[in-house]
Amino acid sequence: MKAIVHDVYGPADVLELRDIDKPSIGDDEVLVEVRAAGVDPGVWIFMTGRPMAVRLAVGLRRPKVAVLGRAVAGVVAAVGASVTRLHVGDEVYGTCESGSFAEYAMARQHRLAPKPANLTFDQAAATAISAVTALQSIRDARVQAGQRVLITGAGGGVGSFAVQLVKVYGGSVTGVCSTSKIELVRSIGADDVIDYTRYEIDRDGAQYDVIIDTAGNRPLSLLRRALAPRGTIALVGGGHAEGRIMGGFQRQMAAPLISLFMTQRLCGVTARERHEDLEELTSLIESGSVTPVIDRVYPLADTPDAIRYLAEGHPAGKVVVRV
Ligand SMILES: NC(=O)c1ccc[n+]([C@@H]2O[C@H](COP(=O)([O-])OP(=O)(O)OC[C@H]3O[C@@H](n4cnc5c(N)ncnc54)[C@H](OP(=O)(O)O)[C@@H]3O)[C@@H](O)[C@H]2O)c1
Repeated sequence: MKAIVHDVYGPADVLELRDIDKPSIGDDEVLVEVRAAGVDPGVWIFMTGRPMAVRLAVGLRRPKVAVLGRAVAGVVAAVGASVTRLHVGDEVYGTCESGSFAEYAMARQHRLAPKPANLTFDQAAATAISAVTALQSIRDARVQAGQRVLITGAGGGVGSFAVQLVKVYGGSVTGVCSTSKIELVRSIGADDVIDYTRYEIDRDGAQYDVIIDTAGNRPLSLLRRALAPRGTIALVGGGHAEGRIMGGFQRQMAAPLISLFMTQRLCGVTARERHEDLEELTSLIESGSVTPVIDRVYPLADTPDAIRYLAEGHPAGKVVVRV
């Protein structure tokens, strides 16, 4: 099969389109014929091996998994002996273990769910990781109806889902984005928009009940100034470009400890990939409450360009690789 492979950590130039063997599957695993793969900042992190701390999980000297990409949408091609929830021919989406920038990928059954009937494979691949992260951030922050919620990075991959999901939960949304995305962020449901190229988030002294920080590049002191005394900040964005060792993830890790010393609550969000959340998203998508926003779709051979575009840091919604 054809796949985008890297043998060493580095920039997108290290990626090659190669013929490799199809992944094999174990008892609890599923072989997916990939139709589309989502591109997210995690791909850049695994490709570069930066921040260095990530190498403890993905390979100290060289990548343990040669094929990049985790978010996947496709058709089940084979199932292991103990797979009960999925069958050959099912259209699925979720997260895979063996790399989704490839014609076939191996996934664990609990990380896949049936694809929403009203989505294309491109849209489903765009949803897999980013929407689950947005949903879990909202739950971790305990968003309730009537609350005022500020979302940074509202026009990006996670943020564009978070805006729509907070509306489903009954919150009012102020989206923070750059000038070119104001219309997009309004169109997906934001009640108000702050253009961060002109104003800071504390522009008029407003205080929010919840801040969902996907941009990850504003100082904690600024986020706290814009938060109500008993409000919650969900720290999602890791600031992946800064810090050689931890890349900004220390803020998420330290959040519970810092929370002990103040009335405001900080929670570091770590997305957990579970089919139950995909199924909840499926019903919201099929009812029309949530729709993925896709910025660009690249063919498999142009995956390095897709990752370069994402790394520039300003996608409007999601970037997808079509296989
Ligand atoms: N914790 C977890 O489990 C988890 C899971 C998934 C992703 N993440 C992290 O979450 C972050 C966001 O992921 P993503 O997929 O949404 O990335 P993305 O698609 O690149 O979106 C990031 C957005 O941030 C915006 N932005 C940049 N500077 C900003 C600022 N000062 N104020 C407001 N918005 C700003 C950018 O748009 P503009 O053009 O408007 O600047 C862009 O739309 C990444 O750091 C990623 O690693 C964490």
